[in-house]
Amino acid sequence: MPELNWVGKDKVITHHLDVPYRVLERQYSFDETGQHSEDNGSENMIIHGDNLEALKALLPRYEGRIDCIYIDPPYNTGNEGWVYSDAVNDPRIKKWLGQVVGKESEDLSRHDKWLCMMYPRLRLLQRLLAPTGVIFISIDDNEAANLKLICDEVFGATCFVADIAVVNNLSGRSDAKYIATAHEHLMMYRGPEFVSNGVAMPDKDRETYKLRDELGGYRLLGLRKTGSNSRREDRPGLFYSFSYNVVSGELKVDPASTGVDEITILPRLSDGSDGRWRWGRETAQERINELEVKLVKGRNEYDVYQKDYVTRNGEGKRVKPKSVWQGSEFSSGAGTREFQKIMGKGMFETPKPSALIEYCLSQVSKPDCLVLDSFAGSGTTAHAVLKANATDGQNRSFILVELGDYADTVTAERVRRVIKGFKGTHKGDNMSVSEITGGGGVLVL
Ligand SMILES: C[S@@+](CC[C@H](N)C(=O)[O-])C[C@H]1O[C@@H](n2cnc3c(N)ncnc32)[C@H](O)[C@@H]1O
Repeated sequence: MPELNWVGKDKVITHHLDVPYRVLERQYSFDETGQHSEDNGSENMIIHGDNLEALKALLPRYEGRIDCIYIDPPYNTGNEGWVYSDAVNDPRIKKWLGQVVGKESEDLSRHDKWLCMMYPRLRLLQRLLAPTGVIFISIDDNEAANLKLICDEVFGATCFVADIAVVNNLSGRSDAKYIATAHEHLMMYRGPEFVSNGVAMPDKDRETYKLRDELGGYRLLGLRKTGSNSRREDRPGLFYSFSYNVVSGELKVDPASTGVDEITILPRLSDGSDGRWRWGRETAQERINELEVKLVKGRNEYDVYQKDYVTRNGEGKRVKPKSVWQGSEFSSGAGTREFQKIMGKGMFETPKPSALIEYCLSQVSKPDCLVLDSFAGSGTTAHAVLKANATDGQNRSFILVELGDYADTVTAERVRRVIKGFKGTHKGDNMSVSEITGGGGVLVL
C-alpha cells in the first residue's frame, strides 16, 4: 500500500506511546440545578487542554469504547485571522513540534507541521474507537489528500468508507480563482465491525411511495432481478415459479398443480430467456402478502412485484446515505446562525451546523452511543448529541476536548445554554468540565 512520507514523520510515528498519562481534574459539574462542585456522575464531559494529552488520559477507561468520533481539525489554510489560532501556528503546537521533532521542525513546511500534529492524535483516536464504531473527519482541499493517506495508514485502507462531499456553500466561494468551491470533505472510516444504521429516508423520496393499502404507503418494485447477474445460470436457486389465480387473485409459490384459472409466472428476461427472482422461495413464501401481480402492458403477460413499504414494523424506512450531503441545514451559514442564536455575534468564526453531526450520529444504531470530538471549537457536537437525544429519546453522551482559552466561556457555555433550554432549545442533560493537570500522574477513574 502506498504510504505518505513527510519531514518529521519518523519523529511522530510512535510519539503517541511516549505521551504521559495525565490526570483529568474535574472542575465542576453542571445540570438543571446549575453549576456545582459535587460530581453528578454525568457521562458527558468537556476537557480543557491539548487533545494529545486528553486522548491519552481517556485511554485507560475508554480504549475501544467510543462509538462515534467527529472531528473538525484546523484546515491549515494559512489564514491566521481566526478567533482560534490555526493549530499549526499556535505557540503551544509550535513548542510541541520543537520538542518532539527537534531542531528539524524549523524547516518543516506548513503541510509537514500539520501532518506531525495530526498523526499521533489520529493514532490515539484509532485506539479509542470501538471495533463497531465510526469516525467522521471534516476537512477542505488544503489537507484532504494528505488526510486520506494518513487515515488509510492509521485506520486501514479497507476501513475507508467514503470521502463525502458536504455542500456547505451552495453558491460557491467567490474568492476562489478558478472554481467556486461549494463543498468540503467529510472523510468516513469505520471500525472493522461497524454496521451502518443508514439514515431516515428523505421526504422527497417518500413522495414516490404513492400507493396505499392497510399497511400504509408503498411503491412497486419488480421482483425479477434486473441488470447484472440477472440470468438463471447466475443464481439457479432463485429460478422458480409462482402460480396466480386470475379470478381470485391468489398467489402461491412453487405450486404442485395448477388449477383452473391459474397461470404460471416465471422470471423471464426481456429477450424471453430465463432470468431469476431477487428473493428465495422461503422469503417469497413468508412475505407472500407483500407481493402483487400485475399485467404488464405491452408484453401482455403477468409479472410479480414487491410492495416496498415506506414504514416496516412501525419503523420509518432507512436508506443508505449518499456521498453528497446537500441541504440548507448543512451550510456554513446554518452553523453560524445556530451558534449566534445561542451565543451572540463574534464569539466563534467557524461553527459547524449541528444537523451535519446529527446526520453522522443517525448512522450509529447504539442507543447509548458515546460520541467524542477532540477539536470541539464551539461545542457543536455536544449540541448535536443533546438535540438528537431530545428528538428520539435515546441516551447518547459526549466527550469534548478543546485547547483554546475559550473552552469554558464558549464551548462549555454553549452547552450550558443548550442544557438550560436557552431560546427554545430543549431542556435536560448534564455534564462535567475538567482540566488536564500537569505532572505525570496516571489517570485513575
Ligand atoms: C475548526 S475548529 C472546530 C469547530 C467545531 N467543529 C465547531 O463546530 O465549533 C477547530 C478547533 O480545534 C481546536 N484545537 C486545535 N488544536 C487542538 C488541540 N491540539 N487540542 C484540542 N483542541 C485543538 C481549536 O482551538 C479549534 O477550536
